[in-house]
Amino acid sequence: MSYVIGVDLGTSAVKLLLVDKSGEVVKEVSKDYPLIQEKTGYSEQKPEDWVKQTVAGLKELVQQFDGDVTEIEGLSFAGQMHGLVLLDNNNQPLRNAILWNDTRTTAQCQEIYDKVGKDKFIGITKNLALEGFTLPKILWVKEHEPEIFAKATAFVLPKDYVRYRLTEALHMDYSDAAGTSLLDVSKKVWSEEICNLLDIDISICPPLVDSHQNVGTITSKIATETGLATSTAVFAGGADNACGAIGSGILSEGKTFASIGTSGVVLSYEPTGDKDYEGKVHYFNHGEKDAYYAMGVTLAAGHSLNWFKTTFAADKSFEELLDGVGEVPVGANGLLFTPYIVGERTPHADAQIRGSFIGMDNSHTLKEFARAVLEGITFSLNESIAIFRENGKQIDTIYSIGGGAKNPDWLQMQADIFDAKIVRLKSEQGPGMGAAMLAAYGSGWFSSLKECADAFLEDAETYQPISSNVIKYQELFHLYKNVYKHTRELNHDLMKFRK
Ligand code: XUL
Repeated sequence: MSYVIGVDLGTSAVKLLLVDKSGEVVKEVSKDYPLIQEKTGYSEQKPEDWVKQTVAGLKELVQQFDGDVTEIEGLSFAGQMHGLVLLDNNNQPLRNAILWNDTRTTAQCQEIYDKVGKDKFIGITKNLALEGFTLPKILWVKEHEPEIFAKATAFVLPKDYVRYRLTEALHMDYSDAAGTSLLDVSKKVWSEEICNLLDIDISICPPLVDSHQNVGTITSKIATETGLATSTAVFAGGADNACGAIGSGILSEGKTFASIGTSGVVLSYEPTGDKDYEGKVHYFNHGEKDAYYAMGVTLAAGHSLNWFKTTFAADKSFEELLDGVGEVPVGANGLLFTPYIVGERTPHADAQIRGSFIGMDNSHTLKEFARAVLEGITFSLNESIAIFRENGKQIDTIYSIGGGAKNPDWLQMQADIFDAKIVRLKSEQGPGMGAAMLAAYGSGWFSSLKECADAFLEDAETYQPISSNVIKYQELFHLYKNVYKHTRELNHDLMKFRK
């Protein structure tokens, strides 16, 4: 039997999947690492922690594997997007990585618009300048830590650094490069124009590769440390969302997923790079060669539910908290929740907005609140779906993945709020499976990623929208959208009272 490994370098842990030629996950290992949050809005990690835990995870997978290690033919990556890893001329990190959920860069986003021009910037990068993206972080280091920036000869993203340590070759793939704000997304080249206007030496941008491209083999040092064979091929890999798309079969026009993890993502396949969403949703290069995807992000999806449980129902399990939400009527008896507890991205790129419960009544119990939280998260994702539809996309079937796919009441809510058929996959492994599929395709097991998806993925069950619920939710969605307008100013004024 032949095997590949998918390495998903997430924000809280690295998850490794050993996958056989039929697509079955035969072993799974996870190793976590800490977040460093020195100030409000700061979010950093040590690149060395990623490397140490990835190597430890690979070693554990190999120890549990009873076949011949040369049967593990290759590995590839899915990575948390946007995080800045600045390297010196020996490719040593110059400081902690600044992560995708770090929001210290509001001033730098404005600087980008002032110097490049908002329309030109969106025209080239197909996206807004957002605090989470890489370019504002580069500008922040340039301004606040000039002595460090002066030593930088390259920058990479989190999984690129881990790959570098495994192969000693420095690359970045298009799907992750798309989230740096330095890539000309439709031309697939680094933007000389943006670099020049912001006085960034384009030579710090690493060589670009396709996600399935073979970029070498692991070094003999890594082979010794992990027990893998020196022949183990390494394929570039992709952004976590691109790999999540591959791992749930979003590989042709019309295919869409809704993923509810810490953040929530709605992602839809785009065959070309020339569509103009005017920055309202993200538009990135896919992990499939020359394909694209459009994507909307809710910053606190599962995070809202987690926060709610920790704060108001810490003694309950998630099952206990959600038990009975299906009996609460649509609209949670007049209670609306907006999940803006850490700010929002799509459709409101607003780092200062915060969440609300609107319509609290003395009859409401924990069940109404829990249902309102689920509905609010789903409404927020529906705002992205509405933008896709307004731009002519047909969205009638949505693959639900992540934590949101685990609760039947929430799956029905998604069908009713999105007004689309919801499909749950039989074995849903998200980005790690997409990374393994890139290695499988890169190793020549299949003639395309689609062929690999047909062999590896299987639908488990579907949920159809219930038309009477759809009608009620359309009215509620309209009210939900109004909450932002009515609470924006209030929340911005409250900002000074937050620590
Ligand atoms: C995407 C984004 C997040 C991270 C999470 O734009 O910021 O989904 O990729 O890892």
